Amino acid sequence: MSLIKSTILDQTFKGTRRQLLKAMGIATAGGVSSLILSQGLNAASGSDNAAAEKISLPPSSDTDDGLYWNDVRSKFVLRPDIIYLNTGTEGSMPASVLASLTKNLKEFAGSPMECIGFKEDTHQMQIKNRKIFSEFAGADFSEIVLTTNTTEGLHFAVNGLDLKKGDEIITTLHDHHSGLSALHILKDRKGITIKELALPVPADSKQEIIDIFERAITAKTKVISICNINYTTGLRMPVKELCDMARHRGIISIVDGAHAMGALDFNLHDLGCDFYACSGHKWLNGPPGTGIFYIRNAGNNPHSLWPVLTEVYYLSNKGRVSTMLQMRGQQNTPALAAMIQAVELQKTIGRNKVQERILSLNRYLKERIIETWGKENLMTSFEQNDLCSGLTSFTPFKVFKDRYDSKKNLEVCKQLRKQNNIYIRNVDFKLKKTDTTKTNALRISTHIFNSCDEIDTTVRAIKKIADKI
Ligand SMILES: Cc1ncc(COP(=O)(O)O)c(C=O)c1O
Repeated sequence: MSLIKSTILDQTFKGTRRQLLKAMGIATAGGVSSLILSQGLNAASGSDNAAAEKISLPPSSDTDDGLYWNDVRSKFVLRPDIIYLNTGTEGSMPASVLASLTKNLKEFAGSPMECIGFKEDTHQMQIKNRKIFSEFAGADFSEIVLTTNTTEGLHFAVNGLDLKKGDEIITTLHDHHSGLSALHILKDRKGITIKELALPVPADSKQEIIDIFERAITAKTKVISICNINYTTGLRMPVKELCDMARHRGIISIVDGAHAMGALDFNLHDLGCDFYACSGHKWLNGPPGTGIFYIRNAGNNPHSLWPVLTEVYYLSNKGRVSTMLQMRGQQNTPALAAMIQAVELQKTIGRNKVQERILSLNRYLKERIIETWGKENLMTSFEQNDLCSGLTSFTPFKVFKDRYDSKKNLEVCKQLRKQNNIYIRNVDFKLKKTDTTKTNALRISTHIFNSCDEIDTTVRAIKKIADKI
């Protein structure tokens, strides 16, 4: 189906959204390739260590074609007997990334000295890969550090700042323990104060969240540390507005982008944060143990970040803080180079198309949840697209108190895995700081390789299991 045909279908279709998506072919994944337009990745990336396998996809004008998404699915090596709906915890590499990783590791093992930087100086190779990533993410290469994961980047930011006793950091009850751990180390070590804000579940508007932060800021606030997308409910935070508010008040902003990079189409400069830490191994579908850390204006960083992990600090030519953080001993260069292949897949599809696909599957899932359990069981925003992401949280239980029962929620995930080969996860969080019991929810991640059929199967299976528990 061409773009024109599907647009006409969009305008004239009178059925449900489910029927529409199915008619467009979004309902199925896997299967044969449609049109093939080869795109040589060596040429696209300018990288010498491009994957052995090239990514071939139809031209972008056909991206509304269901066959297109079948093609995308066919680029992944996910086992056909599983339904994988937990990208939020760990992504899956497409064949091109896996091929690159394998090739890089083989070359490395074959001749470590020759291949330490894949036939070029490691430092130069890292610069090249940082450049490719910075163009992709809307930053300058000197602002990018290739890391191991989001946790590492968050710790680089928090531990590298000059904060002192009495300084206040504002975060939320929905931030991940990776970032919160960094804050709590500072609290115990230096006596800084942490203010964890409660957020509406689900949220109705950006403004109500902005107001919560506006009310919480005091003269002592030195940092706001927030997630781009909360891992608990999938709420997309109004990051641009919050960073803007922070900057105007001289407050430093740190953003945890674990669930945004590779899922949303955004530009780091435009987002306006001071520091952004994210994973290469989740929504970007890079190898495990890869990540990215962004430092705004790293050449002339206004907040003088200390390079807390480096091998070049005492040298005369130590360079910028990002260079120092990049040079922190031997790293998994084969994996970091393969992560760049994952960037190429995203570029081939288009970041806007990736976001569109993720949000349409997410919307489809929420409609099925509402149809099956009612809107009151949904903990993720529904109507407001700008509050949505690839994560959806809900409770599959009719009895209200069951949403506090972690054992029951865990049991659903366990049985779903054992009986149906379906992978999701449970999450828990406090609604208020004073809560003594946490609210539990099931969380489903929908990524570009998933389908409406997989969502239908999963919702049916969860209902069957939850009704019996
Ligand atoms: C919001 C958030 N931040 C950080 C992390 C940790 O990510 P990483 O394993 O890349 O350090 C996670 C993991 O799921 C997360 O959900």
